Amino acid sequence: MYRENGGPDVLSYEEIADPVPDDNEVLIKVEAISIEGGDLLTRLMMPLPRSPHVVGYGSAGTVVAVGEQVTDLRVGQRVSAFGEHGSHAELRAVRADHCWVLPDGADAAAAACVPVAFGTAYEALFEQGGLAAGSTVLVQGAAGGVGLAAVQLAAKAGARVIGTGSSHEQLDALRRLGLHDGIDYRTEDVRRRVLELTDGIGVDLALDPVGGPMTQQLILATRQGGTVVFLGASAREASMVDATTLLLGNCTLSGFSLSPMIHTPRVRAYVADMIRRVADGDLDVVVDRVFPLADAADAHRYAEQRGRIGRVVMVP
Ligand SMILES: NC(=O)c1ccc[n+]([C@@H]2O[C@H](COP(=O)([O-])OP(=O)(O)OC[C@H]3O[C@@H](n4cnc5c(N)ncnc54)[C@H](OP(=O)(O)O)[C@@H]3O)[C@@H](O)[C@H]2O)c1
Repeated sequence: MYRENGGPDVLSYEEIADPVPDDNEVLIKVEAISIEGGDLLTRLMMPLPRSPHVVGYGSAGTVVAVGEQVTDLRVGQRVSAFGEHGSHAELRAVRADHCWVLPDGADAAAAACVPVAFGTAYEALFEQGGLAAGSTVLVQGAAGGVGLAAVQLAAKAGARVIGTGSSHEQLDALRRLGLHDGIDYRTEDVRRRVLELTDGIGVDLALDPVGGPMTQQLILATRQGGTVVFLGASAREASMVDATTLLLGNCTLSGFSLSPMIHTPRVRAYVADMIRRVADGDLDVVVDRVFPLADAADAHRYAEQRGRIGRVVMVP
């Protein structure tokens, strides 16, 4: 938990009263916690809704109590759960319609990592971006949680996938997951390299979980009539774009937040499908390192390091 915004050092490991589920919630005994890119940003800069605040979106575990109005979950079921806060804990109360029952034997760490990262990637690629087989997509931050999910989903859908990362060693490791071409954003001009790779045409779709000055580069790296989906701010800088470049490129710039729509039948269905695909081995969750929850400050510090691949997970 933390009492003020700041770096990983604001986190402390303490005992507080067990959460009590509302009528539409379940109480979960947490087995694994996914540290999302959004958890790091929330801790750093989002206003605290309460103090102390338990941060965290995604976790998986076993239902140990159900609210009076919950009819579709029961004690003993294992679920992956999403909430606006509270994942960094041994027990958390979450809305029942923000939970997905796990297939038998599913790995808790992998399941915890699916709803946010894979849900966001799916929404960006297919629902907002209209990705089809044969399209070319550019994935910013391809080694991050959302990026890795997007690389795999796009490649399996028959798209050509170009990704950006902070080294070619990092990007080469993504080839087994479907990356076709990697661009080192630290040493290469992303827009110019994309145009070289696409015979001067540009990509059909670009996903931007990073923001900052790169958003404008992505607009310029899309083809006439292409789309940029803005979905995050890992660069921790404002994304200033020249709207004229949208006009000149017939480019659509869209953005979305998965959180307010995650309970809808549409999103619930595709998240459930991807939890099953991960359990079946059709999609990979890459877990970089596992920390004890008691070492959450170290885990956040590690998760903030650049050049990593995949998710950092904690276990209570
Ligand atoms: N819209 C939504 O509903 C939604 C849902 C989920 C997440 N998000 C947001 O999406 C973002 C990514 O989340 P995540 O969980 O994937 O985070 P993550 O796992 O921490 O990955 C972040 C990625 O961003 C890259 N990156 C960071 N700074 C960069 C820069 N200045 N230039 C280029 N690349 C940079 C990193 O690459 P290197 O390490 O190689 O530098 C890393 O691969 C976060 O801002 C998060 O809040 C939004």
